[in-house]
Amino acid sequence: MISKTKIAIFASGSGSNYEVLERACREGELDAEIALVMTDKPASFVVERARQTEIRVVALEPKAFPTKRAFEETVLRILREEGVEWIVLAGYMRLIGPTLLAAYPSRIVNIHPSLLPAFPGKDAIGQAIAHGVKVTGVTVHLVDEGMDTGPILAQAAVSVVEGDAAMTAQSIHAVEHILYKETLQNLFKSVPATR
Ligand code: GAR
Repeated sequence: MISKTKIAIFASGSGSNYEVLERACREGELDAEIALVMTDKPASFVVERARQTEIRVVALEPKAFPTKRAFEETVLRILREEGVEWIVLAGYMRLIGPTLLAAYPSRIVNIHPSLLPAFPGKDAIGQAIAHGVKVTGVTVHLVDEGMDTGPILAQAAVSVVEGDAAMTAQSIHAVEHILYKETLQNLFKSVPATR
């Protein structure tokens, strides 16, 4: 039997992308196995969603560690124990540091709610509305040391609902939920396994 790609999902928020990816794995649409969900926000709703799907939750607050390096070394030890091959960021609102980047070179993927390089960082949808753009979108990219700057794997455009961040966010999420699983499936098929 061919073993599935082992992934860890990192999330800080609601976890709607987590939920879609978990279902895609379970239903065979994505040839991957979610080893764990890592969150830096123990009170976030993704924790509830992960528990409902019986996936291991690792909740670690960076402020409980003396340095970012110490935080990431602890995360890395757990990822290695679980045999995680890819890190999938799904609403993880923290920059990945050198420790994890060195351990997972070109093996960390992120989804961002804009057509990068436009509107990196926080509140990309609010930024798009404030700039008055008519079209924004979704980007899936590999993670490097910058803020939403790594090589782009896939993009899709989404029309802005004028002045309405909530409606625009809804359209963006709907596109994210399709684009992320498709892009990950293509990526995992095209890159050799590490195990
Ligand atoms: C998603 O829109 C994702 O693109 C964004 O956070 C949201 C998480 O939603 N990520 C970023 O802004 C990263 N810079 P979810 O918790 O419902 O999956």
